[in-house]
Amino acid sequence: MSAPTRTVAVVLAGGIGVRVGLGIPKQLIKIAGKAIVEHTLESLQASDLIDEIVVMMNAASISELDHLLAGDRFSKLSRILPGGETRSDTTQLALAALDGDDTKVLLHDAVRPFIDDRIIRDCVDALERYDAVDTAIPSADTIIRLGETGHIDDIPDRARLRRGQTPQAFRLGTIRRAYELARQDPQFRATDDCGVVFHYLPEVPIFVVEGTAENMKVTEPIDIDIADKIFQLQSASLALDTRPETLPDLRDKTVVVFGGSYGIGQSVVNLAEGAGARVHEFSRSTTGTDVRSTDQITAALDAVAAADGRIDIVVVTAGLLRVQRLAEAPLDSLLETIDTNLIAPVVIARAAFRHLERSRGQMLLFTSSSYTRGRAGYGVYSATKAGVVNLTQALSEEWAGSGVRINCINPQRTHTPMRTSAFGDEPAGSLLAADDVARVTLNVAASELTGQVVTVKVAAMRRGGVTA
Ligand code: CTP
Repeated sequence: MSAPTRTVAVVLAGGIGVRVGLGIPKQLIKIAGKAIVEHTLESLQASDLIDEIVVMMNAASISELDHLLAGDRFSKLSRILPGGETRSDTTQLALAALDGDDTKVLLHDAVRPFIDDRIIRDCVDALERYDAVDTAIPSADTIIRLGETGHIDDIPDRARLRRGQTPQAFRLGTIRRAYELARQDPQFRATDDCGVVFHYLPEVPIFVVEGTAENMKVTEPIDIDIADKIFQLQSASLALDTRPETLPDLRDKTVVVFGGSYGIGQSVVNLAEGAGARVHEFSRSTTGTDVRSTDQITAALDAVAAADGRIDIVVVTAGLLRVQRLAEAPLDSLLETIDTNLIAPVVIARAAFRHLERSRGQMLLFTSSSYTRGRAGYGVYSATKAGVVNLTQALSEEWAGSGVRINCINPQRTHTPMRTSAFGDEPAGSLLAADDVARVTLNVAASELTGQVVTVKVAAMRRGGVTA
């Protein structure tokens, strides 16, 4: 009996990304706390359908990826090999490194980190019926063709045009045969891998799987910003997916909440206890803790670590919101807002890092929708909340190597004492319940996300059936 067919994903990372122009190979650029190629590898590793992953890396930077082979994070990653001069050279080097005519091969650009399970499944399934498979999406733009003179010489029917993406998937024997013929052709010009089958094995039909807009290729500088935004949207959908009854299992976890005496912090404390965690709460009103004091924070964290032997999650909900026009506000009051909302997260992050490093844990901060645009009446508050987002992003990068994650929750207007004292009574239906925000917070705490701003919206919670 023959062995079952293997499916190998080849990650093409042999390029340098001249067009992005950042001076490092673009597959190493960090988005949401991790190199782009790591995001790509995470999606492939997570798929049940992939047996093995081979990375073809730009030869000059190949050592940058050595760490990915250690540990079991990428247990399917078998080899990191040097890529070639051109993309199709890289493909051919990969093909030479694989065995078995029947092997299913998915060739995927390292710089398309948003490949999803559905695309992988469709490609692998299609290889049961076809020897060559492409991934493509319709074109929103009209595609025009230019003639020799640079004028339009054709406008093909848009309905039949598609924009090619990757993966491109093949039975190994087929793509090998196509490249063998290509190599004998002096006219051979590099195209994509499906193009090689199309030209040299015209009798082989190429099936087309539907791609997604998210499965973009990071190519130009603006694509870095777009990719960053897509990660934000995807983590926001985690908030949307959080249904009222879902709480992660936090048994054996130790959670520390700074500012947990009322509002969202209090809900985080209660729900984390409900989820089985050991919870320690510190605040000015309950434990007399000044969250701006390095000594007090260090002592608090050391005491927890001594008692429980570990700290897995640190949540900072302490915050001040005072509505006051800058020129009229007492300076002390403004400085207190900066101290509580920005300096305290800095102090706590510094003290918490070594504990979280041991548990490979997570820190959670809170921002507000005013972080994207400052508002009259609470400019300093808005500025601190923008600062918290920047701090989250920066620390997610600084801490990525040690496995510590940090995220920021952005709750839309939430029914809390802090809000009521600043804005008075507001219509109940327009406000989130503190428990809803806490539930999303704990789900993020249990996730692998890092460097994300997770927005929690009233409308989404209503769809989930929660009432305030
Ligand atoms: N690629 C490769 N080997 C090469 C060239 C490119 O494996 N010799 C890979 C890239 O790393 C990328 C994918 O092919 O994952 C898509 O190519 P492209 O976007 O053109 O990448 P670069 O060649 O890196 O970009 P640029 O053209 O801007 O330099």
